[in-house]
Amino acid sequence: MTEPAIGPTPIAPVVAARSLGRVVVASNNAGKLRELAAMLGDAGLALVAQGELGVPEAEEPHPTFIENALTKARHAAKLTGLPALADDSGLCVHALGGAPGVHSARFALDAGGEKSDAANNARLVAELQGERDRRAYYYCVLVLVRHANDPEPLVAEGRWHGEIIDAPRGSNGFGYDPHFLVPALAATAAELDPLVKNAHSHRALALRALVARLAGETQ
Ligand code: IMP
Repeated sequence: MTEPAIGPTPIAPVVAARSLGRVVVASNNAGKLRELAAMLGDAGLALVAQGELGVPEAEEPHPTFIENALTKARHAAKLTGLPALADDSGLCVHALGGAPGVHSARFALDAGGEKSDAANNARLVAELQGERDRRAYYYCVLVLVRHANDPEPLVAEGRWHGEIIDAPRGSNGFGYDPHFLVPALAATAAELDPLVKNAHSHRALALRALVARLAGETQ
């Protein structure tokens, strides 16, 4: 974990997080893993990526982010015996009726293309040709299960509003970031310093809420 966390972490979540011990992150997405590790640097969670433990990708067959996140968390917890943290996230574009949404990772694949950020971005730009309404938001839901059959998973969500631009800008971040303009910051998500993205993003908002839930557990 090379990047600092999002800010000073209050003591209660640290205590609650340490009580969890090692936590497996139910994702193989390098961008997500990097951001979660950077933001959780000081929170006391010892994160290990599921790939390091030989856990294969879970199926994500559901129409909602929360169902997919819960499925991924349970899958990783079941195969490792560890508490698991899952992130299900995506880009929701107003003019596309909320698409690509839960299908964000496979937007181009679903149209016969390849599963890559470049192909997804190309389809996004093509679908918005001639469209004046450029509103969009990123959505993230985080689910933490203490074990595979945890009846009370911790759940937190975040949204980050912006606009889709045709010409990519910036090389930080991942996924749709070069096309996601945040007017309030006068930059795309890919132009932002990672510390700034990790202070404002959908993932940052969800993580802050999750850490607050963890703190509540100690009271
Ligand atoms: P998931 O693995 O099914 O949750 O899919 C997440 C997909 O949403 C990623 O592959 C990206 O395409 C997109 N996505 C989620 N969060 C971000 C982000 O912070 N930046 C750019 N793209 C994102």
